[in-house]
Amino acid sequence: MIETYEDWIGSLGLPIHRGFFVEDLRTVETGWWEERGCEVAFIRLTGQEDLLETKVIKIPPGKTTQPWKFALDDVFYVLEGKGLTAVWGMEQTARKTFEWGVRSLFLIPRQSYYQLSNAQGDKPAVLLSHNYFPLATQVVADPEFYLNNSYLPEEANVLEEFYSEAKAIKREADWGSDTGGITWSGNFFPDLGIWDRLDRFERRGAGGHQVRIKYPIATRGGGNSMSVFPAGRYKKAHYHEAGNFIVIPAGEGFSLIWDDDKERIFIPWHEGSCFAPQFYHQHFNLGTIPARYLKFGYGWGGMRRHAQRYFHTRQIEYPDEDPWIRETFEKELSKRGLKSLMPNEVYKKYDYDWEYAKDSDAD
Ligand SMILES: [Fe+2]
Repeated sequence: MIETYEDWIGSLGLPIHRGFFVEDLRTVETGWWEERGCEVAFIRLTGQEDLLETKVIKIPPGKTTQPWKFALDDVFYVLEGKGLTAVWGMEQTARKTFEWGVRSLFLIPRQSYYQLSNAQGDKPAVLLSHNYFPLATQVVADPEFYLNNSYLPEEANVLEEFYSEAKAIKREADWGSDTGGITWSGNFFPDLGIWDRLDRFERRGAGGHQVRIKYPIATRGGGNSMSVFPAGRYKKAHYHEAGNFIVIPAGEGFSLIWDDDKERIFIPWHEGSCFAPQFYHQHFNLGTIPARYLKFGYGWGGMRRHAQRYFHTRQIEYPDEDPWIRETFEKELSKRGLKSLMPNEVYKKYDYDWEYAKDSDAD
């Protein structure tokens, strides 16, 4: 079998980090990639499978990366630092420049050129890049086709009005897993650590909220969602297939991942941690502030939506869960001198009515 993507990253001689999680992407080992003019590490976690590319890009103080062109939409999340992005088309048309800071999220549109600059002279800027390169190389098995391919023109008007403010779009409930709400559509989100335009996310319990993000020009697979849930609480376990990647903008806690009858994998997290949930998984807040987890790979096309319709019922309600879950949460909290804020009734009542600390103006 041809393993195009795996062979390609192997040929670059850069660090590749594997396993179930990386505890801190900000400090992960990277290596110099001359052609890009920056340091890079590839992240290949169990649960990403051959769908998502995620890599850490570290730009030295005051430096700018080489101009680069990639055939696919590429979403960037800033783990650390401040900087600038310049994006342009083949004829230097519609050149755009915008600034970013820690926890910014932005999209570089497919088939456009770009450069990233570190605006600070005393520390590196560290970004996470996310795209569907491994999936694409299963269709056209030549990585060079996607990289700096000067025959691929940018799409008409893709760069016009590009980095304007995000707009709220009402989303109707569907008969699958989506209960409706607001989707924010934009190409630049300045700080996901403080973004507060949130919808209640009742189905998953804990009195949590979420925001869904789409990029106006992205192909169907592009998009993010972010969950925000209160201190001292944990969400319901649920099941779905591989193809999601989570990075933590704020808070601390842990997640569990397990297949039907297999051992549970314990994943500790805090700002800058990442993991790729699949099978059953469950998220726990061990901090004193609301925890945020930002998901990449939300809604990647028909295959996922089909699977969601089948699997979305596979959620474990609190009264049905293994008591070990609650005990583990309480034990982890007590190590920090904290107590669970999960009301006792949630373990008895299937339709427990959560209190929502704060609803945003998006509701
Ligand atoms: Fe999930």
